[in-house]
Amino acid sequence: MSLSQVVRVKVPASTANLGPGFDTLGMALPLYSWLELRPSDRTVFHLHGDQMEGLPQDKSNLIYKVSQMVFQEAGVSVPDLEISMYSDIPLTRGLGSSASAIVGALAAANALIGSPLPDAKLFHMATALEKHPDNVGASLFGGIVAAAWDGTHADYVRIAPPAHLETLVVIPDFQLSTTKAREALPAQVKLEDAVYNISRSSLLTAALSAGRLDLLREAMKDRIHQPYRAPLVPGMSKILEEAQKQGALGVALSGAGPTMIAFVDNRDARIEQLRVYLVETMEAEGITVSCLQLSPVAEGVQVLGDKSDRTFMEMIRGEITA
Ligand code: HSE
Repeated sequence: MSLSQVVRVKVPASTANLGPGFDTLGMALPLYSWLELRPSDRTVFHLHGDQMEGLPQDKSNLIYKVSQMVFQEAGVSVPDLEISMYSDIPLTRGLGSSASAIVGALAAANALIGSPLPDAKLFHMATALEKHPDNVGASLFGGIVAAAWDGTHADYVRIAPPAHLETLVVIPDFQLSTTKAREALPAQVKLEDAVYNISRSSLLTAALSAGRLDLLREAMKDRIHQPYRAPLVPGMSKILEEAQKQGALGVALSGAGPTMIAFVDNRDARIEQLRVYLVETMEAEGITVSCLQLSPVAEGVQVLGDKSDRTFMEMIRGEITA
């Protein structure tokens, strides 16, 4: 095993479900978290920025624990680490912040010990930790990922983002935990709703593969999670119903919410009109939001080849948006 002195990784955020593809479809988005790992004689943390506030700075930290899982899987001992982290991905908003932390730790720890574990192994480990493959698949592989997980094994296919696909992401200023958003779901769904979702999710996957943006209007519809989650996100039902009339190709709750994501064609002159509509609709419910225009990113987690003497924060300064 060759142990590196330092490894830095950059991990994209992700949106999950894309409407009907509950726990199945994910797409990488250009908001990032950065992580640096160094072998050390004691475990220390340098957590930068607001997103890191309150995170544990001892061996109960997720990054530390996930790194140790990689070392254990590879049969290597690296008991102490110097861990630096910064993230632009808002926490608990449905943009895959926890998935990005898991993927970053897996990729960085693996690179630190000479990359003995293949990507498929990292994907299994990430899915086992996150319990569903949609966010982790997108953060790991980039683009759009269709994945299935049976509790021990995950299969996936990555699809390159279609040309002209762009998104407007409306991020409310309140947090909604995935646990709470999953508790809102029924234990059983009707067969006709299952069929409704299977057909839309299949159509959506095929449409994204074929670049058929014209099909997203129908293909992004969902009946098995969004209707039950709508009461948790003021303005959501209205946006699901009306956004297409304002220029959206399709619209969905991003992951478990509360962020909403509208898919748009970047050649459509109505993007600004749609942005105003989305923001005003949520603000009319008394919610403060920020709205970002984000293009899907083709690249997943990157191990950065930074050999310079720049510090961790010097490296990412200039790239960060917050
Ligand atoms: N597919 C998951 C959900 C994503 O909708 O609950 C949560 O990150």
